[in-house]
Amino acid sequence: MLKTIDAIVRESGRMMLKETDPEVTLKEGHANYVTQTDRDVQDFLRGKLTALLPGSDFFGEEQDNGVLTDHPTWVVDPIDGTTNYIRGLHHSSVSVALSVGKRLELAAVYNPYRDEMFLAQAGKGATLNGQAIHCSVTPFEHAVVAFGSSLYSPELVDATMSAIREYMRVCGDLRRFGSAALDLAYVACGRCDVFFEFSLSPWDYAAGLLLVQEAGGKTDLLNLTADHLDFTKPASVFAASAVCFDKARAIAAKNEPENKMA
Ligand code: IPD
Ligand code: CA
Repeated sequence: MLKTIDAIVRESGRMMLKETDPEVTLKEGHANYVTQTDRDVQDFLRGKLTALLPGSDFFGEEQDNGVLTDHPTWVVDPIDGTTNYIRGLHHSSVSVALSVGKRLELAAVYNPYRDEMFLAQAGKGATLNGQAIHCSVTPFEHAVVAFGSSLYSPELVDATMSAIREYMRVCGDLRRFGSAALDLAYVACGRCDVFFEFSLSPWDYAAGLLLVQEAGGKTDLLNLTADHLDFTKPASVFAASAVCFDKARAIAAKNEPENKMA
């Protein structure tokens, strides 16, 4: 099934590349955009993926979603990094995960600009264009920390900046790329060592979490306690290589306003 998913997701990525001047609408607030391509890619993926697994449910950014059940469910962001897409920054992805029994089973994150397909299957490892990938062994003091600015949640600005200040004092460097799915994929393949964003929706992080876990890294949703996927509210997502996890998590957890351990 992973091979077919690979082909379907690559095709949806080509849809992104074909449209060079997408129609843009502001969804809400001052920074949350959607393009006609987001909708077209989502419609394409819904059709193909639900046909691949008859009876499966579909959970996507550009539609109203029900509650997550134990049923096989596709969790899809048709374009993660919509602002990058609109602005021609060439760093966006298609993100697809399959949840079964509220556990992540399969993940695909595809960056069509670099033709890079990240895949993972629970218990079977993670790959980039067919080659096995692993999190880095870079020590914490040299770590590259990717972060997301939770731009749809202004109440998180101070907490995010405070965590960033702390990382800047003790780590190698920081990056804000603009696609959470790719940030997580980059932790999985060792280009970055740590990722945090204090508010993300399921379609932004579901596939990326499995990639990191299957590449030998560790993940934690800092504000959620369930031992299965919980989509009832946005998640505060933390991920890191096994080497960096404890030290890096301590900084994120200390600054996370809703930290479950607080
Ligand atoms: C966004 C990107 C971004 C992250 C935002 C997400 P979208 O997804 O992943 O990196 O900081 O929180 O919402 O809106 O481009 O699909
Ligand atoms: Ca999106």
